[in-house]
Amino acid sequence: MDIFRKKSINPSSKSELSKNLKLKDLILLGIGAVIGTGIFVVTGTAAADYAGPAATLSFLVAALVVIASGFSFAEFSSRIPITGGPYGYLSVVFGEFSGWMAGWFLICEYLLAVSSVASGWSSYFQGFLTSVGIHLPHALTAGYNAQNGTYIDLVAAIIVLFITVWVTQEAKKALSLNNIMVWVKFGVIALFIVVGLFFIEPGNWKPYVPFGVSGIFDGAALVFFAFLGFDAIAMAAEEVENPKRDIPRGIIGSILIATTLYVIVTVILTGMVPYTKLGVGDPVAFAMRFVGLENVGTILSIGAIFTLLTVTISMLYSLVRLIYAISKDGLLPSFLSKIDKKRRTPVTATYVTGMIALFFAAAFPINLLAELTNITALACLVMMSLGVIRLRKIMGEPTTGEYRMPFVPVLPLISAAACAFLMTRLTSATWIVFSITIVIGVAIYFLYGYRNSHLNQKD
Ligand code: ALA
Repeated sequence: MDIFRKKSINPSSKSELSKNLKLKDLILLGIGAVIGTGIFVVTGTAAADYAGPAATLSFLVAALVVIASGFSFAEFSSRIPITGGPYGYLSVVFGEFSGWMAGWFLICEYLLAVSSVASGWSSYFQGFLTSVGIHLPHALTAGYNAQNGTYIDLVAAIIVLFITVWVTQEAKKALSLNNIMVWVKFGVIALFIVVGLFFIEPGNWKPYVPFGVSGIFDGAALVFFAFLGFDAIAMAAEEVENPKRDIPRGIIGSILIATTLYVIVTVILTGMVPYTKLGVGDPVAFAMRFVGLENVGTILSIGAIFTLLTVTISMLYSLVRLIYAISKDGLLPSFLSKIDKKRRTPVTATYVTGMIALFFAAAFPINLLAELTNITALACLVMMSLGVIRLRKIMGEPTTGEYRMPFVPVLPLISAAACAFLMTRLTSATWIVFSITIVIGVAIYFLYGYRNSHLNQKD
């Protein structure tokens, strides 16, 4: 048995896509995929339950970790231009088993991210329904929580169903909406900032660190979620005019823009409302309602409803592409890489994935979903950081035109340690589910993937 057998970088598989993306396109792509539930929902939870007004600092800590990891994505994507992102990169440097585990973590991350964002969307949509006088039965308003009397998040389930059908048929159209939606996002956030500034009560910032320094780190582990999606920029490497220069700038640029917006929104949010009251599903709109601006709250809800939808669509779209790539290598059943003749998309994979995302979105509360998304994302980033060190050993230093991560191996080691540290801050419930996830991933590989891998057939 050889679990270290490596995927080769086949020069003929190099991209023939047109290389016309510029820095501005990359930043729009990044912001489009990154800004969503993190700012519209998780800011409230982070302040109410984790860090208080110091949630602002949690965002800064998470941003530093994300930037360090972004560098390794940039180097891999410019040096190994193959599909499947970390799954492909790590299959090349560490061998098939590690590649599969990275792919498995990514599948879980994207799947759970779709469910989390759908759950966040549901909160905003229900806030909007309430504001127009429509109330759903309490049991159907959130994921399973017998104590609170909630069992199923009906709205989240319906929206995942809708998105699944949308992605099977109109993926390209759906993705092209992204750029327009980025401007809607900026508009909604700008409205919140400009109006919110006038309703700040500095007394709400006291105490600033109610949960202590550890609360800031616990908050960082949660709000890390808000930065996920930046890898979309690295994935676009094949289509970038000047990847060496623009991918790192795109990654760092969009992370900096997102960080700035997150920090300003958190400062204003915690200034408008006492942090103890922010544990709601739609904090940004709630803050406006709290200060008596019902109409502004409704506008913000509608804006969030549209922009969150596009994040979910792009994530499900990327997830299906990843599953398609893995299945084509034989590590997942071949029906998942079947292309529908009429629609030219992997319809079966989309339905299977969508139904699993629907189950999670309907049954679990957003906090657990977001934490699970983070732990799988962080695990993948630890592997990516270590992978860069291995990449240098195998392929040597980057050549001209390839992106070079600075301070290798020190920075990748710091980055891996920082990701591992954030993982330790997540709750034990998250760790239990994460351990089960690892067992399932390992079982799939040894019971199915190893035998059916195309590398096996070559052997
Ligand atoms: N970063 C994405 C969001 O916050 C997943 O919705």
